[in-house]
Amino acid sequence: MPEGNDVGSGYDALADGVVVADRDGTVVVINQAARRILGDAEGLVGQPLTKALPLVDPQGRDWWECTRPFDGLASRVRQPERLLTLSRPGAEDQTLLVTAAYNRDPHRNITSVVVSLRDTVARSRSERSGAELVSVVAHELRSPLTSVKGFTATLLAKWERFNDEQKLHMLQTVNSDADRLTRLISELLDVSRIETGRLELRKQVVDLPTLIERDVNGRVAAGESPQRFQVEIGSELPEMWADPDKLGQVIGNVVENSLRHGAGTVSISVTAAGDGAVVTVVDQGEGIAPAALPRIFTKFWRDTRRGGTGLGLFIAKGIIEAHGGTIEAGQADSGGAMISFTLPAGTPTYLEG
Ligand SMILES: Nc1ncnc2c1ncn2[C@@H]1O[C@H](COP(=O)(O)OP(=O)(O)OP(=O)(O)O)[C@@H](O)[C@H]1O
Ligand SMILES: [Mg+2]
Repeated sequence: MPEGNDVGSGYDALADGVVVADRDGTVVVINQAARRILGDAEGLVGQPLTKALPLVDPQGRDWWECTRPFDGLASRVRQPERLLTLSRPGAEDQTLLVTAAYNRDPHRNITSVVVSLRDTVARSRSERSGAELVSVVAHELRSPLTSVKGFTATLLAKWERFNDEQKLHMLQTVNSDADRLTRLISELLDVSRIETGRLELRKQVVDLPTLIERDVNGRVAAGESPQRFQVEIGSELPEMWADPDKLGQVIGNVVENSLRHGAGTVSISVTAAGDGAVVTVVDQGEGIAPAALPRIFTKFWRDTRRGGTGLGLFIAKGIIEAHGGTIEAGQADSGGAMISFTLPAGTPTYLEG
């Protein structure tokens, strides 16, 4: 056979489906991507190419009859990409993007035909979500940037017309918008690390109560009333190994959500559970609508009334799951929102996830 197994394994590295036929038109290689597209493709090796891939063009014509790879024009080396239907008896029709390349010997006789297949459904799905992501991200970045640009341009053009207090106010706005941009960009980087499984955990012994106190103290120092927080620490918490910065990020977002989206007192409790701990945050606001509950951990999902990017809980879930824990949302008895996450005691590994 002109195409050996080693060639097959080379094709396995390709994202496109590849089916190779020898000089007689017999299928000799089906790579992994092609097997995914074709489903059960084991029996196709050894079959005639035209039977293994019954391709039909949009006019309903047999594509092989039209292209005649083995006895058509002897100078032809490839077929341009076309959208074709794979129509196999007993299987659902599939729309595929198909190209073919013909390898010829010096006498122009075919030595092999390489057909490449692309699943158009999968491709348009991933392109769509990519385009959506770009549009959401561009929109999120634009509003703080517009304000930074607007205030700096105004200050540069009319510096003498403003008094110190007005200038200070404008610069403070620019400063906080720049902070927002920085935060947004680091959140986007977290999202991409979570989605590609590259979230790095730097585990060390963490004291959950200290992390929680630090978050609450920071908020009180920034002007929040201490009366809004109620912290309850259970006894006998085990020694926990986790990434303190990342857990701080989770606690920060969940508490921030209670302050921003909820109302009243924010109660935070830590109790021992299993070999680890459970952290529960409850507030006295309106709670999360039951219809929204399944969606709040989704990227960019948010309640449009109160700002936010809708990344906080997606990232929180990614971080907790990377630690081997789980996170869930529900309704507190008081009617407010309840977010609760478990965290196993963990082991001292420095890179994971
Ligand atoms: N305590 C809460 N009470 C009511 N609704 C909440 C609460 N926590 C979260 N939500 C809802 O869940 C949505 C998603 O929360 P998430 O933290 O992911 O995003 P965000 O807070 O809107 O934006 P970000 O955290 O990225 O700044 C919120 O927009 C809000 O509608
Ligand atoms: Mg949030």
